Amino acid sequence: MNPQVLKDTLKRIKVENGGITAFGLRFYERLFEKYPQVKPLFTTPPEDQHKKLVSSVAAIVALVQSPDKLMPFLHAMGIRHKAYKTLNSHYPAVGENLLAVMNEHLSKEGQWTDEMQENWSEAMKTVSSVMIEAADNPDKFKDEMAAAGFEPDGFRKDTKKPWELEAISIAYLK
Ligand code: HEM
Repeated sequence: MNPQVLKDTLKRIKVENGGITAFGLRFYERLFEKYPQVKPLFTTPPEDQHKKLVSSVAAIVALVQSPDKLMPFLHAMGIRHKAYKTLNSHYPAVGENLLAVMNEHLSKEGQWTDEMQENWSEAMKTVSSVMIEAADNPDKFKDEMAAAGFEPDGFRKDTKKPWELEAISIAYLK
């Protein structure tokens, strides 16, 4: 995985074809069209939901080179998804949708390259398996998560937005 390719993709998503808002809204539109079975799980309107998704993806990219910070972040996120009734079998659908919408978004004004496809595919497989492992074995990661400020249920006492991780992702997207 080449972190620079992941970073460059996000930078382009931000400036091309209507930017992050258009990207995020299209993500949920396509997800619900193609995988209607997951629609009932989402209660937050897509206008608000997409900011969470994009900032978490940006946080992951920003942290690829700091596994000590990234791992508890992903473990906690995987455990929080149990509260949203996410099944392990849903992950490939969300990964497929993310890559398809990135391709669509970046092909309007530029090019979605094979290199981007390969790097994002690898990144989504890795992120999904780390989140799923924690969702399946929450006790195994309790101490690691506590040291990073996460409760055993994956939430935090100091913020209502645990996916922003000290605003790293927000700063990164600016
Ligand atoms: C690849 C990995 C994924 C990432 C990075 C991701 C990211 C996020 C983030 C950042 C949130 C905001 C809440 C929080 O962080 O606790 C969230 C909520 C949620 N995610 Fe995911 N997610 C992923 C996979 C999935 C999958 C596979 C599903 C299954 C359909 C799913 C369904 C949901 C639902 C239902 C919510 C709550 C929605 C609401 O508030 O209405 N996510 N996700």
